[in-house]
Amino acid sequence: MEDSNRSGNPSIHEVSDPARRVFVRGGLAAAAAGLLGPLAAAGCASPGGHTVSAAAAAPGLPGRSIGFRSVPMAAVDRVVVPPGYRAEVLYRWGDAIGIAGRMPAFRPDGGNTAAEQALQAGMHHDGMHYFPLDGSARGLLAVNHEYVDDGLLHPDGQRTWSEEKVRKSIAAHGVSVVEVARAPQGGWRLVRPSRFARRITADTPMRVAGPAAGHPMLRTEADPEGRRVLGTMANCARGYTPWGTYLTCEENFADYFRAPEQPDAHQRRWGLGRRSGSFYRWHEHEPRFDARLHPNEFNRYGWLVEIDPYDPESVPVKRTALGRAAHEGAALAQTADGRVVVYMGEDARFEYIYKFVSRDAVREGGYAANRDLLDHGTLYVARFNADGRGEWLPLVHGQGPLTAANGFADPGEVLVKARQASDLLGATKMDRPEWTAVDPLTREVYCTLTNNSQRGEPGRPGVDAANPRANNTMGQIIRWKEDGDLDARRFAWSHLVLAGDPQAQRPGARGNVKGDAFGSPDGLWVDGRGVMWVMTDASGSATGRGDYAGLPNNQMLACDPTRGEMRRFLLGPHGCEVTGLTATPDLRTFFVNIQHPGEPPGDRSDPARPTRHSAWPDGSGRPRSATVVITKDDGGVIGT
Ligand code: FEO
Ligand code: CA
Ligand code: CA
Ligand code: CA
Repeated sequence: MEDSNRSGNPSIHEVSDPARRVFVRGGLAAAAAGLLGPLAAAGCASPGGHTVSAAAAAPGLPGRSIGFRSVPMAAVDRVVVPPGYRAEVLYRWGDAIGIAGRMPAFRPDGGNTAAEQALQAGMHHDGMHYFPLDGSARGLLAVNHEYVDDGLLHPDGQRTWSEEKVRKSIAAHGVSVVEVARAPQGGWRLVRPSRFARRITADTPMRVAGPAAGHPMLRTEADPEGRRVLGTMANCARGYTPWGTYLTCEENFADYFRAPEQPDAHQRRWGLGRRSGSFYRWHEHEPRFDARLHPNEFNRYGWLVEIDPYDPESVPVKRTALGRAAHEGAALAQTADGRVVVYMGEDARFEYIYKFVSRDAVREGGYAANRDLLDHGTLYVARFNADGRGEWLPLVHGQGPLTAANGFADPGEVLVKARQASDLLGATKMDRPEWTAVDPLTREVYCTLTNNSQRGEPGRPGVDAANPRANNTMGQIIRWKEDGDLDARRFAWSHLVLAGDPQAQRPGARGNVKGDAFGSPDGLWVDGRGVMWVMTDASGSATGRGDYAGLPNNQMLACDPTRGEMRRFLLGPHGCEVTGLTATPDLRTFFVNIQHPGEPPGDRSDPARPTRHSAWPDGSGRPRSATVVITKDDGGVIGT
């Protein structure tokens, strides 16, 4: 996991700060005393003094009540859901997406060609969203394919290497759009062929828009104007807009580039060269991924990409106004006057949480009326002060330290170098911010901070109020409430929960979870009735050992955030991450992604023993990331 922040900012959170110590102690004590417990029906006291007024769930949906029976701890190589629910595999790596006349069958030995892979589901499903075609009965799923396990992707893994293998790896990345429908006999099916079926890969032409479009740092030999990029990759979590488009977020893009022998300060700050060579070996046959030859190609990744899932001919757009980061995900909401606010985590150790506020209000008329809405606005980075208050620091060229003298020639450079800008502004270095979510009932915002085992190590940042544990193997969920509308510059924050197993041997790993224990929170969504769903991503090598000895496989839990009690809804197969939750508008169908079942240490499976850690979902052949569809036997709302 990337760990590139060597900036000296800020001093406000030092361990020696007595105010911080008091706050942290008080925070934990308050949690133990029931701060996370049942709250008054009319609203709840949010730390920081805010009263969160209760709002009604969306029309036709029940309130926050959670009614299912918790799934007990088990170590099984399958998806387990509570009694009364069904989980069925819908869309696996290698399944044809459904382009008419071009639907190659999956070859369980990894033998599909690159051209076939470009017509099939990619690997390692991550963020996802359901876009209705016919309400809750038929729709499109946009699905991220974050990265690949080359040990499974090719018959002999990386033992031999070729341009064809690079092409296949590129084709297994990106996004797919598939049509899904409720089947007449119950359950769900892929609609194939479908005129909407589409693969976007790390080779698909896309446009660059916003203040950094055309910037000198984005210009390359192949694209001297810096406005047209081939592809998106490392597509982790997602966002979705009020005008019906999908956002895919480029996270660990640094792993795809061959670094120079001596990376410069900018490249180092963005994690280039932290691995020797390139993990994916694309540069051996695709020179643009060799940063020794084409240094600016690296700056063309790390963006949010907007995709219109309803138009298979549409050109995806990299939205630079939202800033460059190892983007995890994006949670959108609107101000009272209709502007859009985008909350974004940057998942790397000691990186930041961002917020973008659009200049313009969302217009009626779908994407056609909002094509440039994400190109104009203000980007902010979060500082979490030790007293439970926080502020949003603007990344605006010419303001404060963001001047030419400090290495920011223009607004575009501030966005390309958002990390360096945030360092100078004194943003808070977080424990790997993953997904963000906005509670539609209270407008509180949540972010999963998945873990950070290097917090407090010699030479690395120590604990602070927002990131209060050294050797943080378990993670936490932080929340904040803006002072007024969502465009506010200040907020009050607290922790919803510090994750961990209360029985863990190491006191620092125990946390304060009420209900079912978990660690490494990652995927996060608050559904339309206000139920929070937390998905976990402890690495395969951590699961069942050390601080995780008493915890099960990765899981999905439900929580009423006004009560704070966690209840396990789903257990995943061995070695998987659970992620990507989305639902039909009526919340009677959930779609969840099971990513990298059987993940081996080092992220590379042995092609001679592909089922060593998991044989899910087929029971033989190679383990396959897949979308799972969850329904309730009585047809009811999931989780009630
Ligand atoms: Fe791709 Fe931070 O998870
Ligand atoms: Ca994630
Ligand atoms: Ca993760
Ligand atoms: Ca993962």
